Amino acid sequence: MTANISYEINNKDPEDKKRFIRRMFDSIVPTYDLLNHVLSFGADIFWRKNIFRHINEIKGSPAIDICCGTGDLSLLLYKKGAKVVSLDFSLNMLKKGMTKNALRGQSVSADACLMPFKSNTFTLATIAFGIRNLPDIDNFIQDVFRVLAPGGQLGILELVRPKNKIIGKIHSYYLGAILPLVGGVVSGRMLAYRYLAKTINTFVDQSDLKIMLERYGFKRVVFYPQTFGVATIVVCEKEAL
Ligand SMILES: C[S@@+](CC[C@H](N)C(=O)[O-])C[C@H]1O[C@@H](n2cnc3c(N)ncnc32)[C@H](O)[C@@H]1O
Repeated sequence: MTANISYEINNKDPEDKKRFIRRMFDSIVPTYDLLNHVLSFGADIFWRKNIFRHINEIKGSPAIDICCGTGDLSLLLYKKGAKVVSLDFSLNMLKKGMTKNALRGQSVSADACLMPFKSNTFTLATIAFGIRNLPDIDNFIQDVFRVLAPGGQLGILELVRPKNKIIGKIHSYYLGAILPLVGGVVSGRMLAYRYLAKTINTFVDQSDLKIMLERYGFKRVVFYPQTFGVATIVVCEKEAL
């Protein structure tokens, strides 16, 4: 099992990685929500809500929640009055989101990097804890830029490495020892939680992410660090015509 996982992670083909990632998320659905709250000490709930402090009013406008998982952010968008589309490639995640009544708009099973929507469709696109799971971030940025309407915004929430050295040491220990242990014991999927911790360590630097977003046309890229810098909200725009 370990050999298989390390093969999948190190494999250079993004499609192979995606198959591995989809199967992994399919397998952790039963305890996914609980572990999110436990492992972040409940902060994930506030971080998702904080996105709305930094984006434009969304009432009545089309919004897409990409990598929606079980739909916690989709539900917030719905409650803010957006016309929500929720997209994820894990069918088990989408099913759980429907069962708990979080996915109240259209739900779509598709790859975040090849979205089945016309160009210039959405006023807002969000992605919470999803972007670091994409092996081909460039494709994602290009596709999300394409589906956003001119003047539309992209809101990213992601777990990152804190810049402060002392917090960074505590964070590393937490990611290396505590998160896989607690996640593994509760979910029965230790390797999945080891993998998820590893993706935080290997995710692109924030400065590189900014460069990538700008390279594909996004303007006004602003970072809003959350809780000692262990998470960040990024908001950027597709220029209005
Ligand atoms: C950590 S979960 C985040 C779920 C949710 N946004 C939240 O706030 O809890 C990441 C989600 O991204 C989805 N995902 C990962 N890669 C994807 C891809 N290439 N296309 C679509 N969904 C993807 C997974 O299936 C999983 O549901």
